[in-house]
Amino acid sequence: MIKIYQKLIRPVFFKIDPERVHNMILFYGKLLGKFYLTKNILRFMFNYQNDKLKQKIHGIEFSNPIGLAAGFDKDAQLMNILPSIGFGYEEIGTITAKSCTGNPKPRLWRMPKYKSIVVNYGLKNLGCKAIAKRLKGRQFDFPLGINIAKTNSKETVDREAGIKDYVDGFSMMEPFADYITINISCPNAYGGQPFSDSESLNGLLHKIDEIKISKPIFLKLSPDLPIEEVDKIIAVCDRHNIQGFVISNLVKNRSKTYIPAKEFSKIGEGGLSGKVVYDFSNELISHVYKKTKGRYIIIGCGGIFTAEDAYEKIKRGASLLQLITGLIYEGPGVIKEINKGIVELLEKDGFTNISEAVGSEYS
Ligand SMILES: Cc1cc2nc3c(=O)[nH]c(=O)nc-3n(C[C@H](O)[C@H](O)[C@H](O)COP(=O)(O)O)c2cc1C
Repeated sequence: MIKIYQKLIRPVFFKIDPERVHNMILFYGKLLGKFYLTKNILRFMFNYQNDKLKQKIHGIEFSNPIGLAAGFDKDAQLMNILPSIGFGYEEIGTITAKSCTGNPKPRLWRMPKYKSIVVNYGLKNLGCKAIAKRLKGRQFDFPLGINIAKTNSKETVDREAGIKDYVDGFSMMEPFADYITINISCPNAYGGQPFSDSESLNGLLHKIDEIKISKPIFLKLSPDLPIEEVDKIIAVCDRHNIQGFVISNLVKNRSKTYIPAKEFSKIGEGGLSGKVVYDFSNELISHVYKKTKGRYIIIGCGGIFTAEDAYEKIKRGASLLQLITGLIYEGPGVIKEINKGIVELLEKDGFTNISEAVGSEYS
C-alpha cells in the first residue's frame, strides 16, 4: 500500500501547492467519514488490531499508540475517518479562544530531500466557539485530544491577557476532550513562545488548576528549548495539575539542524517537521523520562516514518506516539505498517504489551 502511494499518489500531490493538497485531503477525508461503506472499506484496507498495542492511560483506552499529531486536523473534521485508517487517537487543533486566519500565504513548504515540511500556518483555526459547536453531542470511535494555544494576535501578547485567552480556550474545549494539550511551543505565533518561560508558565498553570478538571493535561514542548529551561518547566509542572508531555513540536532554530542554509533559499519562515525533528525529540524524551523517573506520560512526536522510529521513542520513555509528516510522505498505509512492526519488535524483545517496553532502554 505504501509503495502505491509513493509511486502513484505522492508524485501527483507533490506537484500541487501543499496547502491546497492539505485542504483537499480534509475535504475528502470528511466526506469519506460520512458513510459506513467507505469507512468499512478503508477499515478493511488499513486497520490493524493487536492486544499487545492496547493501553489504558489515565483511564483512557487506546487501541494502539499511533495518533495524528496536532496541526493536520485543526478544525476537527476527520474524527470519523481516522479510526478506519488505523489511528489509535487524534489530537485536533491547535484551537484558540478566538478564530484566526493565520499567517499570510504561502505558509507551507515541502523539503522532500530531508523528509520535512516547513510550517508557518500561524495557528489558523476556526476558534473554540465554532469547533465546540461541531463537537457538541458527538461520540467517536477513538480518544480525542484537544490542543489549545493562545490566540495568535497582538492582544494576547501581554502576559495576563495571554493567560486569560488560554484559560478561555481551555474552559470552552475541555468538555469535549479525552485529554487536553496546552501548546506552549508554537514556533509561528505573534510574540514567540512566552509560556516556555517557567515563571509565566507557573502563572498559567495556576489558573488552569482553578478549573479543576479530572481529564489528563499535557504540555507540548519545543525541541529548541535548552535543557536547563526544560528542567525548570518540569519543576513548575510538579507543582501543578499536569500529567504528561508531548515531545515535541516543530524545530524553529534552523541553524542547529543538519540542513545547509542554502537549502532554505526558496523557503519562507516557519518551523521544521519530519526527519529533522527525530533526534531532537528523542533526546528530549530520554531526558524528561529519566529526569522524572517515568512519573509523567510522554507522547513521542517528531520524525516517525517506520516502526523502528516509533519503537525507539517507546524505549526512550514514550507511552504514546504522534505523527503528521510520516503520513504526508508515506501515505495512510504507514499507520498499519508501524503498528504491525511495533508488535514484531515487542515480540522480538519478549514483551507481552507495549507498556512493558516504555522506557526499557533505562531499566
Ligand atoms: C502542517 C503541520 C501543521 C502543524 N500545526 C501544528 C499545530 O497547529 N499545533 C501543534 O501543536 N503542532 C503543529 N504541528 C507540529 C506537529 O504536531 C508535530 O509536533 C511535528 O510536525 C513533528 O511531528 P512529525 O515529524 O511527525 O510531523 C504541525 C505540523 C505540520 C507538519
